[in-house]
Amino acid sequence: MTTQVVKPPETARTGDHPPLAGPDFALRVVDLKKRFGARQVIKGMSVDVPRGSILVILGGSGMGKSVLMKHMIGLLKPDAGAVIVDGQDITRLKPLELKQTRGKFGMVFQNGALFDSMSNWENVAFPLREHRKDLKGAALDARVRELFKVFSLDPDAIGPRSPSEVSGGQRKRVALARAVALEPQIVLYDEPTTGLDPITTDQVDEMILAAKHKLGVTSIVISHDIASAFKIADDIIFVYDGEIVCRGLKSAMLASEHPFVQRFFATWKEKNV
Ligand SMILES: Nc1ncnc2c1ncn2[C@@H]1O[C@H](COP(=O)(O)OP(=O)(O)OP(=O)(O)O)[C@@H](O)[C@H]1O
Ligand SMILES: [Mg+2]
Repeated sequence: MTTQVVKPPETARTGDHPPLAGPDFALRVVDLKKRFGARQVIKGMSVDVPRGSILVILGGSGMGKSVLMKHMIGLLKPDAGAVIVDGQDITRLKPLELKQTRGKFGMVFQNGALFDSMSNWENVAFPLREHRKDLKGAALDARVRELFKVFSLDPDAIGPRSPSEVSGGQRKRVALARAVALEPQIVLYDEPTTGLDPITTDQVDEMILAAKHKLGVTSIVISHDIASAFKIADDIIFVYDGEIVCRGLKSAMLASEHPFVQRFFATWKEKNV
């Protein structure tokens, strides 16, 4: 299959120094490259995320979306390129500095990644106990209770059980509550709505939009849900085989000449356009 790679303008700047992040950008990825063994998983990706905006990452399975996101939060080190958060290249930070920077992020991992040895209540309370030493006793309980309510979880019924004792959708919502507990500036969601029913999916979308409008939170969301992507995104990147092959909003995605992008949207187009 021939692949026509439509690069956004900034990926053409290969060889330039990474641009310094101005106050407008929460996060910039600059010409990122990563190889696992013989497989070049990220082949030079660049994307700027304006502060307070929502970037959606679309693409097929195994194309490098989760690997890209793990670089954004400093969980993986690239072979080349930079990830600039508040003017600082986080790929060059020492472990302790990186730990401090992580306080700016909340992340919902693809598999939920809750601590199974703790109750759901303790999972949500965990980041607060670690980082908000001022919150204790009744104040801590009230904050955890509030977070459960935001995600339509009954704190008395769901709280005492372990993550393995609740449904997949409930587990996902516990993970969301934990990710936003510290009110981070940037929240990364790896498939937050996969496996959720349409009503809960809508609630998660509304929550991401509310975080943007009410709190100015920047969100980066990996999704397979086209309707949800079009609803929430300020910008969309489509990842294919380690490259960004299409960038823009609905019109750009639907007009793409890349064969995989066309296939990805074909069924949706038949039903909706
Ligand atoms: N730690 C790792 N070591 C080696 N290979 C890895 C590692 N993490 C990811 N990969 C490989 O990198 C490629 C991209 O994986 P990634 O998890 O980013 O895919 P994805 O686009 O998120 O897919 P999905 O939609 O299925 O979640 C895959 O071939 C995967 O096997
Ligand atoms: Mg993934």
